[in-house]
Amino acid sequence: MSHLPRSIFFGRGFLRTDSRKAIEIATAFIATLKTLRQLISLAFCEQTVITYKPEQIMSFLELAKRRYSCRKYDPRPVEAEKLEMILEAGRIAPSAVNFQPWHFYVIQSADDLAKLYQVYHREWFTTAPCVIVICGDHNQAWKRKEDGKDHCDIDVAITTDHMTLKATELELATCWICNFNVAKIRALLQLPDHMEPMVLLPVGYPLDSADPGRHGEKRKPLSEILSYGLPA
Ligand SMILES: Cc1cc2nc3c(=O)[nH]c(=O)nc-3n(C[C@H](O)[C@H](O)[C@H](O)COP(=O)(O)O)c2cc1C
Repeated sequence: MSHLPRSIFFGRGFLRTDSRKAIEIATAFIATLKTLRQLISLAFCEQTVITYKPEQIMSFLELAKRRYSCRKYDPRPVEAEKLEMILEAGRIAPSAVNFQPWHFYVIQSADDLAKLYQVYHREWFTTAPCVIVICGDHNQAWKRKEDGKDHCDIDVAITTDHMTLKATELELATCWICNFNVAKIRALLQLPDHMEPMVLLPVGYPLDSADPGRHGEKRKPLSEILSYGLPA
């Protein structure tokens, strides 16, 4: 088309001017979008820096290995903001059909804790300044049609694990407790039949510790628990 006069190629002279303007406007628009995007990403980066100092960021595996069953707590209370974050981690957990069949009771007052200690007789349990009692609601849980399997236990396990890991990230410690007196805790919480107390989760600053490298010895090797593919 190089043999065609420019005015013919663009149709008319004014069209050529308009096209240039359009290109200029489009270029300016794209530049503005880029700047906006940079500003947005900067805002997110700043937020990340405020929330997590770089030295605090650990990989998921590090976090999971750092979590352990703490059986000696500092009596100092858990800060309300930290407790809220732990509960939020529990709240957002996935559940079958998203039914979220759980309820969390936070026990913190000296009077309530004294009563709660009666449901699990271990000296170390009395050192916990805060206990979250996680209950499963069998009326709300999903039951698989094929065999009626109630998924309440699974859902409660997931939300509890979310909370233990969030607590670990906040340098707090926890311990799953299921070996408690069911009838006593039912009475304390005045639970209806469909609500099952499933986990007592003490939360607090630890006075004991565990080696994050202990899983090499303390867990079964993958070779023992893993299979690839279907059996022949
Ligand atoms: C479902 C469940 C129930 C548990 N119940 C108790 C309990 O009643 N008392 C207790 O001291 N620890 C209890 N534990 C803690 C386990 O003993 C502990 O997780 C396990 O020994 C591994 O140690 P670690 O958590 O320090 O890695 C329970 C853990 C799970 C997951």
